[in-house]
Amino acid sequence: LKFVCVSNDGIDEHMDGCHFLLGLFLRLIGLKNIFGRQLPNMPKEYIVRLIMDRNHKSVMVIRRNLVVGGITYRPYVSQKFGEIAFCAITADEQVKGYGTRLMNHLKQHARDVDGLTHFLTYADNNAVGYFIKQGFTKEIHLEKKRWHGYLEAMLVTLFYAYVWNFSEKNVI
Ligand code: ACO
Repeated sequence: LKFVCVSNDGIDEHMDGCHFLLGLFLRLIGLKNIFGRQLPNMPKEYIVRLIMDRNHKSVMVIRRNLVVGGITYRPYVSQKFGEIAFCAITADEQVKGYGTRLMNHLKQHARDVDGLTHFLTYADNNAVGYFIKQGFTKEIHLEKKRWHGYLEAMLVTLFYAYVWNFSEKNVI
């Protein structure tokens, strides 16, 4: 099992070679397809736009060279929080622990590489149980001035936002 974090600006874990870049491109398409199937309410163009967007990063779980799932997020480095846009594991690999390992990897990466202290996300109703198990809460302890006006999904009310705070929990 391998975890790779990519952004349009480059690859955080340094690697080179065109074979690698081609592989990466195919994996991003694989991730896009998983999000497309697992998040049917999200328009496909929106998924592609955020995956390819310079401001977003994606952490992927790879098993036997195939993408099993991933998380696409936007780090707001100056505000020290990240917004999770998409999170999914492919249908036949769900509830095997990959989602938990993925989230732990994301937290570690976001803390060590991006310097974040919090995550915000708008969890779909059926994924609330998963986010709560990963330590997210409904109460936003983060001061409003740090996130207000920054979020991509401003249309969704904050009632659905879930927050994970690095300083309160150390589950990595
Ligand atoms: N509802 C309640 N609990 C859940 C759910 C769920 N939908 N999915 C997993 N869990 C629980 C598991 O039972 C497990 O509990 P346990 O530790 O007591 O056994 C725990 O959460 C972790 O399970 P994992 O196996 O690590 O999770 P998985 O690999 O299945 O990944 C995920 C979870 C990402 C939600 C996956 O099931 C999935 O892709 N679902 C469909 C897409 C989706 O809903 N994505 C989130 C949308 S919100 C967003 O993208 C911002």
